[in-house]
Amino acid sequence: MEPQVRRVLQVSARRVLVTGAASGIGAHAAATLAERGWEVVRSDRRPGDGVVELDVTEAGAWTQVVAEHGPFDGLVNAAGIRERARLLDLTPEQWDRTVAVNLTGAFLGTQAVGRALVEAGRGGSIVHVASVNSETPVAGQPHYCASKAGVAMLTRAAALELARHGIRVNAVAPGAIRTPMIQDRIDEGQEEALVKRIPRRRLGEPADITEAISYLLSDAADYVTGVLLPVDGGFLLN
Ligand SMILES: NC(=O)c1ccc[n+]([C@@H]2O[C@H](COP(=O)([O-])OP(=O)(O)OC[C@H]3O[C@@H](n4cnc5c(N)ncnc54)[C@H](O)[C@@H]3O)[C@@H](O)[C@H]2O)c1
Repeated sequence: MEPQVRRVLQVSARRVLVTGAASGIGAHAAATLAERGWEVVRSDRRPGDGVVELDVTEAGAWTQVVAEHGPFDGLVNAAGIRERARLLDLTPEQWDRTVAVNLTGAFLGTQAVGRALVEAGRGGSIVHVASVNSETPVAGQPHYCASKAGVAMLTRAAALELARHGIRVNAVAPGAIRTPMIQDRIDEGQEEALVKRIPRRRLGEPADITEAISYLLSDAADYVTGVLLPVDGGFLLN
């Protein structure tokens, strides 16, 4: 029997909301998706330069952006913060701030975009940017690790509930990616030490993550939901 070759439609004028699109992974993903035919709405905490204002911690802001800039077929949630503090020094405020952006933001976005997608009734795709720290801890960031582990489980729980609506929910788990988020470590001369722990022996680039986001967002991943896809040069193999 001849194998059935599936024709994956090149995306034409489908609309995706990208959070954290003013910098790093979100900015790269937004630019690339636009090149690949998506209508991209870029959002970030700070508006300007083609970026609409969306603080992912604000439920009302999500509702407003979905109403004003939707309907969306997809969401790429790349907004995130990483602050360093060891467990014994971590303040409740630092904990709350990190969980609010990384985890509550992912929940609010999944809910706001999910509700609109269910109402529109034509399916959709949500991609969260989690982390290798969803799976493995690192000293000095217990709040970050806990928030990202939460994103991984939220992804699976949401995927389970939304699958019957044709809505897929997935996450990518980046390793160390060259963006402003890890610039402090590079500036401190830690790049070599970081690279030594990566089997692939290089830092990741935003493009590495964009390719995974692009796949999970697209119809090519039509049968993929609830996964946490490491894009880490093999870091999690250690
Ligand atoms: N760079 C890495 O090594 C790495 C590794 C694993 C995971 N990640 C994750 O990738 C995602 C993107 O990070 P990045 O490396 O591009 O960092 P980045 O700092 O370059 O970009 C993060 C963006 O999120 C935005 N943001 C922060 N708080 C926000 C809020 N409340 N509402 C809306 N936007 C907000 C920032 O303004 C910024 O534009 C984050 O979720 C991060 O945790 C990054």
